[in-house]
Formats: sequence, C-alpha cells, structure tokens
Amino acid sequence: MGPLHHLTTRIGRTGCWLLVGLLSLTRAALGQSPEGATYWSHIQPLVARHCAACHRPGGVGPFSLLAYEDVAKRAKFVAKVTEIRYMPPFPADRAFQHYQNERGLSAEEIAVIQQWWQAGAPEGKRPKKQGKADENRALIPERKPDLVLRMRQPYPIKGDGQEDFRYFHLPTGLKEDALVETIEFVPGNRRLLHHSRIMVDSTGTMAGIDGLSETDPRLATFQRTPLADEFLYGWVPGNDRVSFPAGTAKRIRAGSDLLVNIHYAPSAKAEEDQSEVRLYFAKTPVTREVKTLTLTENHISNQPFLLKAETKPTFYISYGPIQQGMDLISVLPHMHLLGQTFKAVAVTPEGDVVNLVKIDAWDYKWQMTYRFAEALHLPKGSIILVEASYDNTSENPENPFRPAKDVGYGWNSTNEMMNLVLYYTPR
Ligand code: HEC
Repeated sequence: MGPLHHLTTRIGRTGCWLLVGLLSLTRAALGQSPEGATYWSHIQPLVARHCAACHRPGGVGPFSLLAYEDVAKRAKFVAKVTEIRYMPPFPADRAFQHYQNERGLSAEEIAVIQQWWQAGAPEGKRPKKQGKADENRALIPERKPDLVLRMRQPYPIKGDGQEDFRYFHLPTGLKEDALVETIEFVPGNRRLLHHSRIMVDSTGTMAGIDGLSETDPRLATFQRTPLADEFLYGWVPGNDRVSFPAGTAKRIRAGSDLLVNIHYAPSAKAEEDQSEVRLYFAKTPVTREVKTLTLTENHISNQPFLLKAETKPTFYISYGPIQQGMDLISVLPHMHLLGQTFKAVAVTPEGDVVNLVKIDAWDYKWQMTYRFAEALHLPKGSIILVEASYDNTSENPENPFRPAKDVGYGWNSTNEMMNLVLYYTPR
C-alpha cells in the first residue's frame, strides 16, 4: 500500500480528496501546472501504452479510457490506482525476471500522473494529426484470427448457486496440420467463467460432447483416452491470449479437435455462456514446436497437499533432473484463493540458478502466462524448484470459509491447487 492509501485511511477519504482538491484548485487558478504535464503531451501516450488494451470498449476493464473526458473525469482515481501500483495489473516481480509481456509504470510515469491530476487534469493542445474518432486506435494491434471455434450453442448456466464443470467439443475441420502462433480464449460470460482449459483430441471419439458434466459417468471413458495435447492453453481471468516467439508454434494435427473444459462460478440467477477459441497461425516458417510441461500437486515433495485449518503451510516441488535440454518460453503459476506467494527457479547441473517467476502478493484475479523476454535455456540435468505458500487462517480476507476449515486438492475455487505450466521447445 502506498502512502496515499495510509493518508486516506487516517484522515478519511473525503477529507483527503477535499484537501488535495483545494490544493489543485489553487494551483490551477494560478495557472501552475507542475512540469506542465497535459493530457495530450504526457497522459494520452501513457494511457495508450499501459491501459488502453483493457480499458477500451469491449475490453476487460470496467470502463474505457480512450478519450480525454474518460480519463479526466477519473483523474484522481487513476492517480490513486497507479500510485499504489494496483494498475496496470502485473503481479510478478520484474526485478526477479523480465518478461516480454510485462506491464508496469516507472516511478517517473507515476509522478507525471500525480502532477497532472493535481494540476486539475488539463487537456492541453490536441495534436493536429489526431482525429477524435481514432484516438489510440492505432495503438491496439489487431489481426484477424485464422480459425474461430465457437461453442455450438449457448450453454445455459443454472441459477442454483452451484459450481458447474462442463466439457465442450469444438470440431476444427482442419484438413492439414495447423501451426498456431497465438491462442486466444474469449469468454462469452466474463462474470461467471472461472477458468477454462483447452485440450486437443486426435482420436475423434469425443465428438458430440456438448456440455457434458463433470459428474457424467461417460466422462471416465473419455478421461482414459490419450489426448494429443492435455494442455494446449489455460484461460484464467487476465490471461486472454498467449503468443509464441517467432519461429515456434504449437502444432495441431489435421483431423484433431479441441476439447474445452469450462468451470462456471456459482450464480444466483440463470445466465448463458457461448465462449470461443481463436487461433492465429504462424506466418513465418516454424522451426521448433512448442510443448507443455505441467507441474502439479502430484509433484509436491512434502505430501500430503492438505491445508489444515488455521495454518499457513508452504509446499515444495522439485522436478527433474530433466532428461533433455529445454528452452523455456513461459510460465503460468496457478493457485486459488488461499495462495499467498509463489516462486519458481531452475538450477542447472553446474549449480547456476535461473529465475523463473516470483509473486509476493498472490492475486487470484490476475493469473497470467509470463513469457520470458528471451527463451531461457535449461541444459539436460537441470531441476525445477517451486515453492508456494498459503494462508488458511480465518484472518485471511480471501478465505471462503469462516471459521477456516481443512482444504485439499480440487478444481473448485474453494479447494486449492498448486500448478506451474511451462511452455518450452525441446533441444
Ligand atoms: C490487463 C488489463 C488492464 C490493464 C492493462 C489496466 N487495467 Fe485498470 N482495470 C482492469 C480491470 C479488469 C479492472 C476491474 C477489476 C478490478 O478493479 O480489479 C480495472 C479497474 C481499474 C480501475 C478501477 C479500480 C477500482 O477499484 O474499481 C481504474 C481506475 C483503472 N483500472 C485504471 C487503469 C489505468 C490508469 C491503467 C493504466 C495505467 C489500467 N487501469 C490498466 C484491467 C486493466
């Protein structure tokens, strides 16, 4: 929490804003804009780069920040969420490892927003070439997907307050292998989608699964079928798409189909969902294929994976030594509501430590695929170490149970998980 937060809690929110409001009014009246930051000179480029991807019509953010008015009327709110580094959301420690998809404002950028807000959010002079209609639009790169696979029909989510796990089969119609460079999952119902996992089936035996329940006896048969890819991609809120580096791609073989497992959160009223998967094929030659390694609760060394009520346990995974060298592309850590911290490193046979990911304040709402700025090479014989801590006390505000109760492995958000999903290309 930043100093602003402490100030607001100490002297009360209204009092604080009033005080600062007065200050900025005086400044504005005197025509003093510290550093002279205006919307068009400083704020618009910054918002376009760090916020617009989500805060635009149809984006995941709750409102658009594309126009001057959008930002100006929320200036103090924007100043606050950026100061406490709540926005843009990026839970991983950027000093520990760098990522190609990392987000974050520099201290200077945060200061500029503060100055601008305190100066009364001046608009400044709109650059001539900037038409009103295309504010920021050029900054959102859009490419048409090569294949859009939509759920056959809207799935009716019952309003019975129960969690719901369903399987959907999406035929691809692929006549030749597809080399997929970007995978995107677009939830039809953002509010009720908890997570989804996309698998690839090449046996053709899953056709006709359309909303099959997790409790359906037929599922046992399906689960014995060897899948071509058990984890093509996992969607959790905040992880809308994943891209692979140039020259690499996931292969989906001709004739195979996607199987999507969706977890719906409990709802008090009936709603619908019709989600879709968008695949973008590689446009440059692919020399290496992307594989998935999923480390799970089964790999934990201090079993059992049981979070006793009123405890704060830590679990460890030690995986390897790996039998084949790998170039790591990305990591996706996954825990549920009780997760607190997550850390993963690799250790090479020479004893070098390769930092993978470190999250000091786990946020269930923001789970992402962290793609390394450059692929990390792990030589044969390396081991991967993971450490995850949980808080299953009644004091944890995220704890769904009060008083706390024992929690074990499970897919429901009220159960827990410990996963690290790695995309890599084998050496
Ligand atoms: C990856 C997507 C994403 C990016 C990037 C992003 N936001 Fe957000 N923002 C969200 C979502 C989703 C919410 C609503 C959920 C929440 O409040 O956690 C939100 C909420 C907010 C809120 C309201 C907070 C509240 O407590 O209700 C403000 C203000 C905000 N964002 C400003 C910004 C600014 C300014 C930036 C850029 C510096 C930014 N956001 C970048 C997704 C994003």
